[in-house]
Amino acid sequence: MVSEILQASSKKIIQNISDPFPNIPGDLKLPILGSSIELFLDANKLIVQKWKKYGNIFKIRVAGENMVVLIGAEANGLVLQDTAGNFSAKEGWNFIIGDLFKGAILLSDGEEHARYRRIMQTAFHRDPMLGYIKVIEDTVQHYFDHELTIKNNKLITFPTIDRLLVLIAGKLFFGFDFTTAQVAAIKSIVHASVTPLHLEIPFTPYWKGMQARRMLAKFYKEKIKANRKNPSEDIFSQLCVAQSENGEMLSDDEIISQMVFMMMASHDTTTSTITSMIYESAKSIEWQEKMRNESIAFYKEGPINYGRIKDLNNINKVFLECLRLHPALIILPRMAIKEVTFEGHTIPAETRVVLSTYATHIDPKIYSNPLLFDPERFNEERAEHRKVTHSFIPFGAGKHLCLGKYFAEIVAKIVISHFVKRFEWQVPKNYVMQYAPPLSHPKDGLPIFIKRIDK
Ligand code: HEM
Repeated sequence: MVSEILQASSKKIIQNISDPFPNIPGDLKLPILGSSIELFLDANKLIVQKWKKYGNIFKIRVAGENMVVLIGAEANGLVLQDTAGNFSAKEGWNFIIGDLFKGAILLSDGEEHARYRRIMQTAFHRDPMLGYIKVIEDTVQHYFDHELTIKNNKLITFPTIDRLLVLIAGKLFFGFDFTTAQVAAIKSIVHASVTPLHLEIPFTPYWKGMQARRMLAKFYKEKIKANRKNPSEDIFSQLCVAQSENGEMLSDDEIISQMVFMMMASHDTTTSTITSMIYESAKSIEWQEKMRNESIAFYKEGPINYGRIKDLNNINKVFLECLRLHPALIILPRMAIKEVTFEGHTIPAETRVVLSTYATHIDPKIYSNPLLFDPERFNEERAEHRKVTHSFIPFGAGKHLCLGKYFAEIVAKIVISHFVKRFEWQVPKNYVMQYAPPLSHPKDGLPIFIKRIDK
């Protein structure tokens, strides 16, 4: 045991003073620290700077780990499609969210992962979705009409949307409202997942996150039996009875792991995407008007349903453009488990590999005037995101493609279509939303000037 620890420590020290990939461009900088501070302050900025300097493949060192960053559609295809089984999502994500999400679908590979997908995708099919739409719409309307309070024509967007999505999640995942303790537990887990110190030292954020995980696991465990017997339409029930074509089901522990993970995977990502939509359409009043006119006409035609959601075409283009410019997951980590070659450079086995969604999305070879907010790039004629495979990856791609992407789209469209019908909003002319890394949360919560227009 002691010799194993010594061996691991000496391996780590060597890794931190040597360069394991001398043939890969880039700069590992200081031992241990490397580019940690720059990455933590603004990961997108650091990656784009290095991309411009070194090209589509470069090395960096972060928190004592050496890694290789790969940029562009070709790299995304190689790593995410991964037909040869060269990369591990489990080892890639383990480093970042580890024990908190042990056993989750994203932290699994190979046959284990394929089995989870076969079973879990049945809970995301069209039929359960039909039931979700009405629940989401009722919750959204009630929230905007009876719960939202606007003081002095000002609103802080992120916590407002965060609260709404907590209400939606409670109903959709469980069929009831979360208790305050459950909401606090979910937030503790998200917080713990992004703290640098992943050790269970009492009262640290990570310890609190692990405590919260145990609390939620106990709560789920108590409900599984009843859900298997008498399932309702909520996602938790659907997971309890989900079966693949050949009859495979999830065990109790597997259901718990997937639920803990999905509460995190679904909530923050969707909240930050809706916040970006409100931000961009505060800056572009033209697009806010287009979405408003479309929504008013849409609801005059009748209530929302699965078949009609696609008619919210302008909202769809804004949704896609916000996912391009403000992807909720800015990096996708993997571990190369075999030696791989990219653009003539050899990446040794056991190397951490990172893809950048953001850099791919602002590649001028793919997107015209890439830093400009221009939702029309997603119209049928231009469809810039379809010109090159794997050039638009806000939901990942290939094996681990987001299971909740249609779900997120539906929630975003219902929330925005009702918001834009009821309110007009703007931000000061020179305002630029800044993120509080590593999550895609605006530092100031995105304050907006807002006016109710439907009463
Ligand atoms: C705008 C909102 C969302 C964004 C941007 C997003 C993004 C992503 C991305 C990029 C991945 C792949 C990660 C990787 O390959 O390393 C992923 C995976 C996943 N997402 Fe989402 N997600 C969103 C909403 C949701 C929702 C609403 C749910 C569930 C209700 C969900 C469930 C999942 C699951 C289960 C996986 C893992 C799939 C697998 O490993 O096979 N996501 N998501």
